[in-house]
Amino acid sequence: MTSIFDQKIDRRNTHSLKWDEMESRYGISPDDGLPMWVADMDFRPPQAVNDMVARAAEHGIHGYYGNDAPYKDAVVSWMKRRHQFDVSPEWITTVPGVVAGYSLAIQAFSEEGDGVLVFSPVYHAFGRAIRNNNRRLVESPLIERDGAYYMDFDNLEDQIDERTKILLLCSPHNPGGRVWTKEELTRICEFCLKHNILIISDEIHHDLILDGSKHVVTATLSDAIAERTVTFTSASKTFNLAGFATAACIISNKELRDQYRKVSTACSVDSTPLGSKATMEAYNHGEEWLAELCEYLGGNQELLIEGLEAAIPGAKVMRMASTYLQWVDFKDVDLPFDEIVRRIQKQAKIAVNLGKTFGKGGETFLRFNIACPRSTVEEAIKRLEDVFADLRVQANV
Ligand SMILES: Cc1ncc(COP(=O)(O)O)c(C=O)c1O
Repeated sequence: MTSIFDQKIDRRNTHSLKWDEMESRYGISPDDGLPMWVADMDFRPPQAVNDMVARAAEHGIHGYYGNDAPYKDAVVSWMKRRHQFDVSPEWITTVPGVVAGYSLAIQAFSEEGDGVLVFSPVYHAFGRAIRNNNRRLVESPLIERDGAYYMDFDNLEDQIDERTKILLLCSPHNPGGRVWTKEELTRICEFCLKHNILIISDEIHHDLILDGSKHVVTATLSDAIAERTVTFTSASKTFNLAGFATAACIISNKELRDQYRKVSTACSVDSTPLGSKATMEAYNHGEEWLAELCEYLGGNQELLIEGLEAAIPGAKVMRMASTYLQWVDFKDVDLPFDEIVRRIQKQAKIAVNLGKTFGKGGETFLRFNIACPRSTVEEAIKRLEDVFADLRVQANV
């Protein structure tokens, strides 16, 4: 059966980071390379979004944005419908992206030199935002068990000190795609309450659930946890709208919200017409599209797991419950890691993210973005089969 996501859309020369910076960053030409790195999708969003953009172009005036009530209503309705999270519109501050939003939160809720706890390996912008704000990165390495990541509760206490002020939580987790259970989230949040650590919960991947797991919004765990939680969400990963630079910072605790807004207002952070309207259109009209997307990504995942593990003896693809960012471990492949990377990037011409940029524990991994037409995943597997053929002969498979 064909899908709308099978369509190959030429993104070259459109100022796409993923395509048009592949050559400068990886030395791989977009003419024959496969960009499987930065986290956006090679798919059009729901039609309602592009119809809105066409209407805006037709009207032709692009001034400042006003009256964001319908936008906030759309966010409130989405969070209620999809995540059983009751949000009041006044809790929402619109920010130009989740990373920008939690960078402001780091400034609002900690001092230079304070520690920010993360579970590593984790999305590389976590470490960047912490270091760029002159805070200390406190890494708690995740434990890999049966092909999935788990938090190491036994060692947490040893990792923090009295200047550890914030937990920057990635939920669901990127990379690896773990959807944390209610029990895990409760345990880590209670730990934070006990140690007076503020919880910043980056839930940008919350809609991209591939296996029926239930994403639990951190701020819904209990009133006490909600009081100490700052939630970030966005339609950008779900509906491929990253270029609209729009995300929501949701804080129910008025004191924390005022503290946050002091910083965001000082930076004149504001919403944009296209970003707000794109979010609104996607939330109000995108549910069917999203269901088809998650099914399609699930199919891509099955294909990659089977194809990549068969092509490269020893490689292990972590099965993800969420996200479209496939985390692959090469530690048991009988080649030096640099040589594996060279073959994948220089010979197969596939641009992937290096695991070490995700922090401790990522050193032997590469991350493959599979939000692309299935034919691209097939082509990637074919190329991997070619460039690792000698390993299969050696392993006799
Ligand atoms: C966990 C996580 N947070 C945030 C982002 C980026 O969000 P934004 O573009 O809104 O800053 C990404 C992108 O990959 C991500 O994986």
